[in-house]
Amino acid sequence: MAFGTIGARLYAWFNRHPEANRAVVDVAALRPGDHVLEVGCGPGVGLELAARAVGADHAAAVDPSETFVAMARKRVPGADVRVAGAEDVPFDDGMFTAIFTLASMHHWADRDGGLAALTAKLTPGGRLVLGERLLDRAGHGITPAQIDEVTARLTALGQTGLRTERRRVGRRTLAVIVSERPTAP
Ligand SMILES: C[S@@+](CC[C@H](N)C(=O)[O-])C[C@H]1O[C@@H](n2cnc3c(N)ncnc32)[C@H](O)[C@@H]1O
Repeated sequence: MAFGTIGARLYAWFNRHPEANRAVVDVAALRPGDHVLEVGCGPGVGLELAARAVGADHAAAVDPSETFVAMARKRVPGADVRVAGAEDVPFDDGMFTAIFTLASMHHWADRDGGLAALTAKLTPGGRLVLGERLLDRAGHGITPAQIDEVTARLTALGQTGLRTERRRVGRRTLAVIVSERPTAP
């Protein structure tokens, strides 16, 4: 789903989700030296946390909404924030040691295409961290059946070390799917 200007402004005002962003960035275990990409950064709350861990000059983000990109650039000066979706990330292959996303994957028009595009952007050993609200039924989050679909797709793409962490955030549960690019082909 595309966010228009008003939708983006309302989201940024009412739905910052600092705790969920903190949980995903925590699972990503970012450290100095990492080169990080956030996908679907929205207003840039997660990007700001990532930049604190690795430095803004090692932090990048994409979002298809120009309004969100403008907000994220303002929030994190020095980060490389571009207008794009997961399916057409405009960065070179093999350049990120960590890629993370929160509450974005369920918006992607082509989830499998997005997963393929993102795994290609990872360095060997780079990690992909996908956070979504855990749901019983399909909606704005991810169901256990959809987690199985995503992990199967990541396995088919050659990702290793697959695991799903569940984090309690307020009254909600966050499912965070973690995988790594193999270090050897
Ligand atoms: C619910 S918001 C989450 C924003 C932010 N990650 C957060 O947690 O505050 C969903 C985000 O996904 C973005 N989005 C929509 N389609 C996308 C796509 N194909 N690829 C990447 N991001 C997308 C939206 O523009 C929006 O910023």
